[in-house]
Amino acid sequence: MKKHIITLAGDGIGPEIMNSAQALLKAAGEKYKHEFTTEAKDIGGIAIDTHNNPLPDETIEACEAADAILLGAVGGPKWADSVIRPEQGLLKIRKHFNLFANLRPVTIFDSLEASSPLKQEIVHGSDLMIVRELTGGLYFGEPSERRDGGQSVIDSLTYTHDEIERIVRTAFDTAMTRRKHLTSVDKANVLESSRMWREIVNTVGKEYPEVTVEHELVDAAAMKLITNPSYFDVIVTENLFGDILSDEASVITGSLGVLPSASLSENGLGLFEPIHGSAPDIAGENKANPIGMMLSVGMMFKYSFGLHEESAAIERAVNTVLKQGFKTPDLKIDGAETISTTEMTEKIISNL
Ligand code: NAI
Ligand code: MG
Repeated sequence: MKKHIITLAGDGIGPEIMNSAQALLKAAGEKYKHEFTTEAKDIGGIAIDTHNNPLPDETIEACEAADAILLGAVGGPKWADSVIRPEQGLLKIRKHFNLFANLRPVTIFDSLEASSPLKQEIVHGSDLMIVRELTGGLYFGEPSERRDGGQSVIDSLTYTHDEIERIVRTAFDTAMTRRKHLTSVDKANVLESSRMWREIVNTVGKEYPEVTVEHELVDAAAMKLITNPSYFDVIVTENLFGDILSDEASVITGSLGVLPSASLSENGLGLFEPIHGSAPDIAGENKANPIGMMLSVGMMFKYSFGLHEESAAIERAVNTVLKQGFKTPDLKIDGAETISTTEMTEKIISNL
């Protein structure tokens, strides 16, 4: 198989973990006889410095011609006070490529149970997938403005029927590949948008009789996620609720550094990135955990290229290295040896 991938390393630890992704692509290509070519482009703070634009046209054009996009992270203190912000590059690329479906798996590797802030018996066996709508809702609704000379303000939560239906279908399709249990999260006791969301989930659900569907209010879901995370299989929800719940879910693994994500469009182009930010506090120190980035390569193999065996091999290799007793400084595993970004990358690759 031949695939062309755009790499957007971005800021902070972005370039370090992107090196890990590059090394993994090279090794997986050789092992499984695929030709992965990569091309580096700018996004975020680095793109503001070089192009005065967090998402330059040449980055968009290169992505348009690619089979998939890998992203490191954007942002940092250097641009904290600038009018043009690095994060605008992220919102723009999601919108430009219509990356409406954000998939965030939260799997707790056995060896990481002890690094969770929750009790081991609570997190044991947790393996859930949050499917978040990414291009609609409150983050993109118009109007969004100050009014009455600053005495009032409005943000708008808008969705079309089609926007809800396509994310709900993605969630049902995802549930079919897993334990077939879908929890739709909304605030239907208050919001009209949530009542419409519920109706669509129920209608689409008739096409998936094997999937058990339930509706949960977002406040109740937030509690259950912490008290009983292993209860969930697939969670589907709108943009704002998904943003909050996915960050909440990510802490149960004990480190942001191990979690990947996929953002998918209808035409198949996907963007894959770890969930963490640019970690400016450890940038340039060869300390960053490359696992979230490397598992994001695994998600790219699975969701964009249909390479299921290759994807599973990456997950197994990560698990093996953790079980062998190696960790990066962010992980709290008793008795494990702390190694660097580059050493962790090499160990994972050698276990492929
Ligand atoms: P962060 O995720 O960058 O860091 C939070 C904490 O986790 C830090 O102590 C950091 O050292 C640690 N951490 C994160 N990833 C790690 C890894 N791979 N290995 C080891 N430790 C890791 O979040 P923070 O500090 O709130 O934001 C820093 C910058 O990143 C900000 O400019 C923010 O806007 C941006 N950001 C970008 C995101 C993206 O590119 N998708 C997502 C979240 C934040
Ligand atoms: Mg967030």
